[in-house]
Amino acid sequence: MILGIESSCDDSSFALMSDDFSLVRYAKITQENDHAKYGGVVPELAARLHTAAIPNLVSEFRNDFDKIDAIAVTNEPGLSVSLISGLSAAKALSIAINRPLIGVNHLIGHIYSLFLDREIALPLGVLLVSGGHTMVLNINERGKIEVLCSTSDDSFGESFDKVAKMLGFDYPGGALIDKLAQNGENEFEFTIPLRGEKRLEYSFSGLKNQVRTTIEKLKSSANSDVNSLSEKLVANIAASFQNTAITHILDKLKIIFDRCEFRRFGVVGGASANSLLRKKLMKLCLERDCELLCAPLEFCSDNAAMIARAGLAKLKNSRFSDIDELKINPRCSLNGAFLDL
Ligand code: KG4
Ligand code: ZN
Repeated sequence: MILGIESSCDDSSFALMSDDFSLVRYAKITQENDHAKYGGVVPELAARLHTAAIPNLVSEFRNDFDKIDAIAVTNEPGLSVSLISGLSAAKALSIAINRPLIGVNHLIGHIYSLFLDREIALPLGVLLVSGGHTMVLNINERGKIEVLCSTSDDSFGESFDKVAKMLGFDYPGGALIDKLAQNGENEFEFTIPLRGEKRLEYSFSGLKNQVRTTIEKLKSSANSDVNSLSEKLVANIAASFQNTAITHILDKLKIIFDRCEFRRFGVVGGASANSLLRKKLMKLCLERDCELLCAPLEFCSDNAAMIARAGLAKLKNSRFSDIDELKINPRCSLNGAFLDL
């Protein structure tokens, strides 16, 4: 049995998973409402809220501590002040109950969200779309990760959050843009980023600025503020933005599929819950005779179940971390890293 601890951004979460991958206990305390009015995660507030939430999670899980064989904790990448909260708690617990520690990379955790209740299947292509990252990965049969494409500016999820903010909505706005877009039309036909360029790179900041200028023009012509834009107009802005962002994702994926001929492809991260993205990926995978894997909706966003699952793979290979050497690493590259099989 392994205890997973996640605190890399604005969610504090614990999960207890047994070696047959069943989730014995799971809890998550999210800070979304606390950051909502600031338009993004405020690091100091996040740190303070993790410090308040983690002792509550410890109380909730303490009756199971004697069944735990190891503690898996996210130590990279993420917000340093948030990572520190979880890692400090994990170290204290490791000493208190005398169990070994296992450091887990948060992004590798997201990959394991595809295999929460089963053995990993490789080779695998992965699209990782979250608030902090946008990348396409090729993972070979030995578990070696190659980063094929990443973003040069904003991430996919972040661009949804920023557009939501421009429209006057709270953070995080991705799920709301998804919902609004379902009643909207592609009225604005924004320019698709890097279209026609063979370069494997994503970029969302130009699109974000196009949306900003459009909203400003609409506001000045109506001589009003964003709150008085009609519901239809807001839905059409959401739909036009979402369509363009997802077409951009798919443009580059098609080039990558031509090169890699994936037989299995997964989509992970908070923004992988997006309904249009899932629909378009399903179509692409069907055309390319490729199996599409998606994480359960509850485990697309940050959670400790995926950290426990990744930790279990490391536990099976006895890949423990030294308590004195395990440090936080806010930024790190996945290129060349290995999954534990
Ligand atoms: O993986 P995650 O929970 O946290 C990070 O590691 O960043 O991802 C959160 C991101 C936020 O930017 C949020 O707006 C976005 O995922 N998101 C969505 C949707 N649901 C969450 N973006 C687009 N469509 C959605 N349905
Ligand atoms: Zn994440």
